[in-house]
Amino acid sequence: MTHGFGIIGCGMIANFHARAIEEIRGARVVACFDMVPAAADRFASSTGCRPYHKLQDMLADPKIDVVTVGTPSGAHLEPVVAAARAGKHVIVEKPLEITLRRCDKIIQECKKNKVVLSAIFPSRFHASSVELKRAVGEKRFGRLTMGDAYVKWFRPQSYYDSGAWRGTWQLDGGGALMNQAIHSVDLLTWLMGPVVEITAHCGTLAHKRIAVEDTAVGSLRFANGALGVIEASTATYPGYLKRIEIHGSAGSAVIEEEDIVKWDFVKKSRRDATIRRQMAQKKSTGGGASDPTAIGHHGHTMQFRDVLSAIEKRRKPAVDGPEGRRSVEIILGIYKAAEIGRAVTLPLAKDPVLKARTRKA
Ligand SMILES: NC(=O)c1ccc[n+]([C@@H]2O[C@H](COP(=O)([O-])OP(=O)(O)OC[C@H]3O[C@@H](n4cnc5c(N)ncnc54)[C@H](O)[C@@H]3O)[C@@H](O)[C@H]2O)c1
Repeated sequence: MTHGFGIIGCGMIANFHARAIEEIRGARVVACFDMVPAAADRFASSTGCRPYHKLQDMLADPKIDVVTVGTPSGAHLEPVVAAARAGKHVIVEKPLEITLRRCDKIIQECKKNKVVLSAIFPSRFHASSVELKRAVGEKRFGRLTMGDAYVKWFRPQSYYDSGAWRGTWQLDGGGALMNQAIHSVDLLTWLMGPVVEITAHCGTLAHKRIAVEDTAVGSLRFANGALGVIEASTATYPGYLKRIEIHGSAGSAVIEEEDIVKWDFVKKSRRDATIRRQMAQKKSTGGGASDPTAIGHHGHTMQFRDVLSAIEKRRKPAVDGPEGRRSVEIILGIYKAAEIGRAVTLPLAKDPVLKARTRKA
């Protein structure tokens, strides 16, 4: 089966989408749209696709059956709804959207229009994440006791100054957590299960002209009783590789970016030899620790392949809408807990009211 892609939002991440699609047999980028016509034209000339200057015109193109949405985070909803109503399957960049209400609207519209919806979380497809998920499933950790995510990254002031939407509540929806650390928040809850209670602190410590946090710490209780922390920053020079740590009564494992760097279990398994070989061949990129463009596109390629297979087999994709919503809920819980200085319990009944959202940069 062949698949034609339309790309909505022709900025930084769209280039990664195009590279990922190019690598998939039977898939090609047919067209693109950006609210800035010159951006669509530029992207079209570099990828050889057709630029559209009106979204509805692109969505009427019968050669397109899937769209990817790479508009600013708080501007995902409108193009997704338009695409779903035009009968196109949708792959949306992280975060799915920046409020639960907007995430839910996306999920409902895609369901109503019977199109596949997937939220982009490429880290779930990395070999190291898959190994860890398998080990959790096989109960190799014994009783899970701690699950932690550390994203101590660095963004210079020029990063926030490079786009009017960056660092705003309206379109970024948050800072180091909602934009950068969300990949790790997603992995943590995928591996450890749902979070039920959060206490937190957030601060804007080292950047100017942004309204959102550049540093955050959340302390978590998971539904299975385990505890953990999320530490996220774009203000920790020079920016180190992100880490996920999973610990239990019978084992511990640590992923640094894409590499498993610790793998210790009471009960040995035949797969351990493969893992140890992988540990010896570190292959992580910079992972965006200090440069947002220093990321690979292989995670996107694997996720796009999963979505195309979901379309063909009429099954759910690995990261569907409700899966994409999970990290958004945890991050909003952290923001609320930091603001009120008390514990917040999950699931949230509705979007928390955040005074921070009215704060000016
Ligand atoms: N998966 C990842 O690793 C990763 C990395 C970077 C960014 N992202 C996500 O991708 C999204 C875009 O980030 P970016 O860094 O590419 O931003 P960007 O500013 O480089 O690009 C955004 C583009 O969208 C266009 N745009 C804005 N509003 C639009 C609208 N309503 N309709 C059509 N086009 C519109 C802009 O003109 C711009 O060309 C964000 O949600 C971000 O969180 C994901």
